Amino acid sequence: MSEWGGSLAPQTNQLIRAMAHDLLKGKKGIVFGALNDMSIAWKVALEAHAQGAEIVLTNAPVAMRMGEIHNLAKLCGDAPVIPADATNEDDLQKLFEGAMEHFGGKVDFVLHSIGMSPNVRKGKQYTDINYKFLQTTLDVSAISLHKTLATAKKLDALNEWGSVVALSYIAAQRIFPDYGDMADAKSLLESITRSFGYHYGVAKKIRVNTVSQSPTVTTAGSGVKGFDEFISYSEAMSPLGNADAQSCAEYCITLFSDLTRYVTMQNLFHDGGFSNTGVSMEVISKFGPEGA
Ligand SMILES: NC(=O)c1ccc[n+]([C@@H]2O[C@H](COP(=O)([O-])OP(=O)(O)OC[C@H]3O[C@@H](n4cnc5c(N)ncnc54)[C@H](O)[C@@H]3O)[C@@H](O)[C@H]2O)c1
Repeated sequence: MSEWGGSLAPQTNQLIRAMAHDLLKGKKGIVFGALNDMSIAWKVALEAHAQGAEIVLTNAPVAMRMGEIHNLAKLCGDAPVIPADATNEDDLQKLFEGAMEHFGGKVDFVLHSIGMSPNVRKGKQYTDINYKFLQTTLDVSAISLHKTLATAKKLDALNEWGSVVALSYIAAQRIFPDYGDMADAKSLLESITRSFGYHYGVAKKIRVNTVSQSPTVTTAGSGVKGFDEFISYSEAMSPLGNADAQSCAEYCITLFSDLTRYVTMQNLFHDGGFSNTGVSMEVISKFGPEGA
């Protein structure tokens, strides 16, 4: 119900969205991690374009074999696609140099939407992980953010008040057994966000934040064992229900915009209230006589 007594919320929402075409007008950004149209990064790229930004798309060279990113590029005003393995500093340097050449100047925002664990992929138990795999998990899913920020800083590639957002998950704070060593990667990702956020903030007023997103049906998400049951549990535990990928994209846009200029070094939950819910009536009722 709106304050006028009618149920105008969806229409009002549409109106606001129709008017707000220029939240990122004049801004230039790099979007990592759009694999296919389920990817959170895919939705961020489309929304950033719709809000007036110019973007460069990037992903690991192996992820481009399907070629889907080129379809996205067409939908984003023929955005250039520059391949980069985010663990490779040479690739990252070429990416930032290529983006700056294309934009004719510096970059205003970066989305880091990257995650992969060989241990999770191969179904290794957390207590019996392969340590070489663990190194890959940490390098791809967390240290790649450090390398991205360090490369940008070295090249002075970001404009003052620029904004970097990486995607995280609440397993950084709480145990979710099947999330395996990705939990350790997300803890490190959030730590890098605070530490680099401090240094880059002092040096250039660059903002660095993580968005801790609800479980979402994507290629990476579905790789976690028991994901379907887990997504239903999370839905039942969240007062607003699970946040979907499109809503996550819209939240990221606010963080790239000038409306959030003093938000930095934060882990921001975008999860329908899951993180602050001890138990919901829907979940606890399953343990009563009728739910059993
Ligand atoms: N899906 C969920 O339930 C969920 C929940 C919270 C957070 N997240 C996070 O959101 C982010 C995006 O994941 P998604 O769910 O959209 O899945 P996705 O599979 O669509 O995206 C993951 C991306 O990481 C890329 N990537 C892997 N290794 C790379 C490398 N070496 N260099 C560059 N890119 C590489 C992949 O190519 C892919 O595009 C990840 O950080 C993920 O952990 C996802």
